[in-house]
Amino acid sequence: MIRIVGVRKRFGDREVLKGIDLDIPRGSNLVILGGSGMGKSVLMKHIIGLLQPDEGQIIVDGEDISRMSPLQLKRVRGKFGMVFQNGALFDSMSNWDNVAFPLREHRRDLKGAALDERVRHLFQLFSLDPDVVGPRAPSEISGGQRKRVALARAVALDPAIVLYDEPTTGLDPITTDQVDEMILDAKRKLGVTSIVISHDIASAFKIADHIIFIYDGQIVVRGLKHEMLTSTHPFVQRFFATWTAKNV
Ligand SMILES: Nc1ncnc2c1ncn2[C@@H]1O[C@H](COP(=O)(O)OP(=O)(O)OP(=O)(O)O)[C@@H](O)[C@H]1O
Ligand SMILES: [Mg+2]
Repeated sequence: MIRIVGVRKRFGDREVLKGIDLDIPRGSNLVILGGSGMGKSVLMKHIIGLLQPDEGQIIVDGEDISRMSPLQLKRVRGKFGMVFQNGALFDSMSNWDNVAFPLREHRRDLKGAALDERVRHLFQLFSLDPDVVGPRAPSEISGGQRKRVALARAVALDPAIVLYDEPTTGLDPITTDQVDEMILDAKRKLGVTSIVISHDIASAFKIADHIIFIYDGQIVVRGLKHEMLTSTHPFVQRFFATWTAKNV
C-alpha cells in the first residue's frame, strides 16, 4: 500500500530524516516508536504529502506522491484520514461541524437526515454524546474529548489508510483500549491500513503487525515485541528498560 524509498529531509542545517526505507502492506498496522524529536511526525507528514522529501520516493497505492502537484495530491489525500498530534480541530466551528466537515466536502450525496445520522454514528463510535459535545466549540470540551472528536473526523470518510499521531496520549485507560480496539476492528472488518505513532508501548504491542523504532532520523530496529525487547541498540535498550521496570 505504501512504499518509502531512501527518503531524506533536512530543515536548515539539520538532517531530520536520514534515509528511510519502509514497506507497509495493505491492511496492516504499522506502529512507529521512538524518542521525542526523532522525526516520527515528520515522517508521517511525508506519507500524507504535507512535506516533500529532499531525496527519495513515497509510493502510495502505486503512485509516487513525492513530486505531485497540489491538485494531484488533493485526490490522493482522499484515501487518507489523519489524526494530528495536537488534534488540529477547527476552533471556529462546533465539534459537530468539525466531524461533518469532511463529509460535506467529499460526500456531497450525503445530505439532511442521512448526513446527521452519519455524524451521530461517528460521535457514538467514540463514546461522545452528539447532543452534548456536538454543539460546543473544541475549546469548550476536555483534551480527551477533543482527541476523540479528531478521531471521529479522521475516519468520517472510511479512508483506506489512517494515520494516527499519538492517538491515545492523554486518554484514560478505558478510552485508550477503545481506540486500540477500533484500530484493530478497522483492519479486520474493513482492511484499513493504519500507521500509528505511539508512546504507549503496551498498546503498540497489542495493535502492531510491524513495529519500527526511529532514532536520530533512521530506522534502528524493525520487527515486533521480541525484536524491540532484544535490541542491542543502546537507546532502544534504555527506552524499553524504563518501560519494563515500570510494568512489573
Ligand atoms: N517544519 C519544520 N521546520 C523545521 N524543523 C522542523 C519542522 N518540523 C519538524 N522539525 C524538526 O524536526 C525534528 C523532528 O521532529 P518531529 O516532529 O518529527 O519529532 P517527533 O519524533 O514526532 O517527536 P515527538 O515524539 O516529540 O512528537 C525536530 O527537531 C523538529 O524541531
Ligand atoms: Mg511527533
